[in-house]
Amino acid sequence: MSNSKNFEELLRVAGEEFECDKVVPHNYHKYYASHLEEYTGRSFKLLEIGIGGEGREIGGASLKLWERAFPQAEIHGLDIFPKTELDTQNIKTHIVDQGDPQALIEFVSQYGPFDIIIDDGSHKRSDQLTSLFGLIGAVIPGGYYILEDYFTSYWPVYDGSTLAKDFLDTPVRWLKQSIDIINRNNMLSEDMRSTVPDWQIDELHVYPGVAFLRKGLSQNRTEIPEGDFTSNQIELDDLRYGQYKNMFLSYAQDPTSNLNLLIKLKEEIDAKISTLVVKSQI
Ligand SMILES: C[S@@+](CC[C@H](N)C(=O)[O-])C[C@H]1O[C@@H](n2cnc3c(N)ncnc32)[C@H](O)[C@@H]1O
Repeated sequence: MSNSKNFEELLRVAGEEFECDKVVPHNYHKYYASHLEEYTGRSFKLLEIGIGGEGREIGGASLKLWERAFPQAEIHGLDIFPKTELDTQNIKTHIVDQGDPQALIEFVSQYGPFDIIIDDGSHKRSDQLTSLFGLIGAVIPGGYYILEDYFTSYWPVYDGSTLAKDFLDTPVRWLKQSIDIINRNNMLSEDMRSTVPDWQIDELHVYPGVAFLRKGLSQNRTEIPEGDFTSNQIELDDLRYGQYKNMFLSYAQDPTSNLNLLIKLKEEIDAKISTLVVKSQI
């Protein structure tokens, strides 16, 4: 068996023992195995948002799983409920609300940065985005930010929507945006580039239910050729699409602006139609 298969088996067995839903029913352990196998035997820092059990049970299945898989790792867990019963030499739990940007800053300044951050907390759209924006900078180069159950972006109970999915700011939108983020340095327009955060990620791995963003080791890589290529391409882009620039920029900054634009357009069209109707009656 390959090392990766051995590691997958270790995660499966430990996950079943601790009743971790990463294994049953989600089957995420095979994706974790292929990405995190390289961390075995190393000392590193892992943070997981969401310890489990909420206020009813103690939870901690995944923290125990990580402790078994990575005995040399420093493991931190965040939850809004106290979970100190789970603390061991390797595991430290903290009460931190993942939707509170200031609390995240304070936590990171005390315990960060991390090699791996996993968001398996409330799964609410705004909490996931607050954590992603607040914590991606706390992942070291070469490390991972992992989003579990990102499909909640489509479900109203978590503040998501299937119908309005293209008009809402959701984790799924930011996973799609990650292609732009990875290619930030290949963008020709400074204005458009400024709408794309500089997260320094250079890998995006999306699986059913779980997505891995990986920080790059080298920075500022660009494929833009030397010479007058840039000015030439900017001019051509501007000739073709320059008249819509403000619309494109406002959409890039805020996806709901597309909805506003459509509403405005509809109002203008309705107004034109009513004038035409009035005229035709004369
Ligand atoms: C799905 S469970 C986590 C399961 C655990 N990661 C595992 O794999 O065994 C979600 C946890 O997130 C916690 N939670 C809910 N809202 C939160 C918030 N705003 N900040 C931090 N944790 C939160 C809940 O209390 C619950 O314990």
